[in-house]
Amino acid sequence: MIHSALINVMVKAARRAGRNLKRDLGEIEHLQVSLKGPANFVSRADKKAEEMLYEDLSKARPGYGFIGEEGGTREGSDKSHTWIVDPLDGTTNFLHGIPQFAISIALRREDTVIAGVIYNPANDELYIAERGKGAFLNDQRLRVAARRQLHECVIACGLPHIGRGDHQLFLREMTALQPRVAGLRRFGAASLDLAFVAAGRFDAYWERDLQPWDIAAGMIMVREAGGTVSDVDGKTDALTTGHVLCGNEVIHRELARVLKAAA
Ligand code: IPD
Ligand code: CA
Ligand code: CA
Ligand code: CA
Repeated sequence: MIHSALINVMVKAARRAGRNLKRDLGEIEHLQVSLKGPANFVSRADKKAEEMLYEDLSKARPGYGFIGEEGGTREGSDKSHTWIVDPLDGTTNFLHGIPQFAISIALRREDTVIAGVIYNPANDELYIAERGKGAFLNDQRLRVAARRQLHECVIACGLPHIGRGDHQLFLREMTALQPRVAGLRRFGAASLDLAFVAAGRFDAYWERDLQPWDIAAGMIMVREAGGTVSDVDGKTDALTTGHVLCGNEVIHRELARVLKAAA
C-alpha cells in the first residue's frame, strides 16, 4: 500500500516514538511518575515520547504549529497547519502494563483535520486515515460495523474522572443502555476506542470531557471508515466540545436518542 508523503512522515514519527514506549513498557517500575490531578498520571515515558514526536514532525514540516498534551501549544510560522498529538493515550493502562495504549497524531489544516495516525506499539497495530482517501489498519481498508439494532451492538464508553465530569449522568446512561445492548466496554484509551469503531470491532463509542489530542486522529479514522461522529447530542462538532459519540449512521442516531432520554 502506497501512502502520501505526509502519512509517511506521521507513520515514521509514530513508529520511532512507539519503539521507545515499548522499551519503557519493559521497565515501568523504573519510570518517574507524577500526578497532574486526582488519578491523572503522567510519566517520563509520556514526556519523552512527546519530545521525540515534536522533533520528528517539526523537522519534516518546519513551521507547522504543535499542540501536545504534555508540552502545550507551540506556535509555528505556518498558521494554517497544526499537529495535534497525544504522545501516550492510555497512560493508566501503560503504567499497569496493560497493552491498550497508543500514540495519536492528527494534522489540522485551517479548521479541518486532514490526516490521522494512531499506533499501538504493544501489538504493532497502525491505523491511518487521510481525508477523502479512506482509513486503514496495517494496510487493510477499514469499514465501520453494519449492525443496525442496539441489542446486537458492543459499545465502548469512557468513565468520568475523579473530580471531573458528571458521575450521576453517567450512571443514568449506563442504566438506560445496559439492558438494551449486547455488551458495554471501557478499554481506557480514547484514540483506540475510536480506531476500534473505525475497524468495526466496537459498534459505537461515547465519552465526555475529552481533549482534542484524545480524539482528533480517531475522529477522521471513523469518518474515513464510513462512520458518523459528533458530540453526544448527535449534532455539534465533538472536536470543539470534547464530548464524542460515533458509530454507523443508524446506531449513532439511536444511541444519541437513548443518551438524550437518559440525560
Ligand atoms: C485518557 C484516555 C482515557 C480517557 C481519558 C483520557 P491519557 O488519555 O484516553 O481513555 O478516558 O479521559 O484523558 O491521559 O491516557 O492520554
Ligand atoms: Ca494524560
Ligand atoms: Ca489521551
Ligand atoms: Ca496522553
